[in-house]
Amino acid sequence: MKKRVFLSASVLAMAAVSSSAVLAQDNTFKIGLILPMTGQQASTGRQIEAAAKLYMAQHGDTVGGKKVQLIVKDDTSVPDVTKRLAQELVVNDKVNVLAGFGITPSAFATAPIATQSKTPMVVMAAGTSSITQSSPYIVRTSFTLAQSSVAMADWAVAKGGIKKVVTLVSDYGPGHDAEKFFKDRYLFNGGTVVDTLRVPMRNPDFAPFLQKVRDAKPDGLFVFVPSGAGAAVMKQFLERGMDKAGIKLIGPGDITDDDQLNDMGDGALGVVTSHFYSAHHPSATNKKFVEAFKKANKGMRPNFMAVGGYDGMRVIYEALKATKGQGGGDALLAAMKGQVWESPRGPMFIDAQTRDVVHNIYLRKVEKVGGELHNVEFDVIKDVKDPGKTK
Ligand code: DHB
Repeated sequence: MKKRVFLSASVLAMAAVSSSAVLAQDNTFKIGLILPMTGQQASTGRQIEAAAKLYMAQHGDTVGGKKVQLIVKDDTSVPDVTKRLAQELVVNDKVNVLAGFGITPSAFATAPIATQSKTPMVVMAAGTSSITQSSPYIVRTSFTLAQSSVAMADWAVAKGGIKKVVTLVSDYGPGHDAEKFFKDRYLFNGGTVVDTLRVPMRNPDFAPFLQKVRDAKPDGLFVFVPSGAGAAVMKQFLERGMDKAGIKLIGPGDITDDDQLNDMGDGALGVVTSHFYSAHHPSATNKKFVEAFKKANKGMRPNFMAVGGYDGMRVIYEALKATKGQGGGDALLAAMKGQVWESPRGPMFIDAQTRDVVHNIYLRKVEKVGGELHNVEFDVIKDVKDPGKTK
């Protein structure tokens, strides 16, 4: 009898210890942010990390009664590393949400882990349409290439006077989407596609491709390269005198990336692109965002990746608030679907059916404003859903 009392007392004591441990753990809400912090895609990681930290500085780190903890991991943009880090974050750190994903292959590699562990996965950068279909736990706050490429195909024929093009894309998911969605719409609009060129995603050499384009003498060159590679294309395009030969450079706004644009030189003036975000977007919300971002980051101008990260944090914070800090993966996911808000990019929402981003696509032209190069918006297509959704 005595022994039994003793045992249950110790069990009670153990239970008390473990419940306080659980309580301590329960009181933190962990976000595993996986980004390319080094290597070819490092600018994406630098921009998104800065934006996530700014969001937390502005909104506090206590949400729904929980202490929010951001765990940043560098995947060097190698998908196998992304996957391993995601596994460790879920199993060892017990993160509540996975976020980041600088390139499409990293998002695809992680999707099965999100599904198996029922962990919401917020894609803040990658832009291939089918990513959201690779796991029901994915929510996207970045963009899709199909959205901007269709808008560009409409502008090029109707207003740009560009009747004959060559396309040049990075040879992987988002490049294939950009090529397909641009080409199909451009042909439908009566344009001619002379050639479709694909350049390796890793360490690309644009020179031989650009020479081919020059020889084909199109009215326009449609280019998609991932964030960080735009300046190299612009430099070689100008060095070859392709602009002077009457070839207009067009494409999704990744090519006139705000992270690099101001260093591209006056040769970039007049380039028209289609995109969901410009640091020059003239709204009060954006002006406030750009100012705060620059102030917190030694004058760095935010690019479209930063906005994907900032909005991703918004989606996570609001889901945590709505579930009062008590929800698991499924409850959080439900609270992420259908969110509507005013982003620095303009109005946006998460389509509750597809879990994908719906936002405006702007046509912009590179102009000099206050001595700096900017993507200045001159037209808008409102509330663009992803044209690349097959279900
Ligand atoms: C992707 C990466 C980028 O840097 C970009 O600008 C667009 C798309 C991607 O891998 O999905």
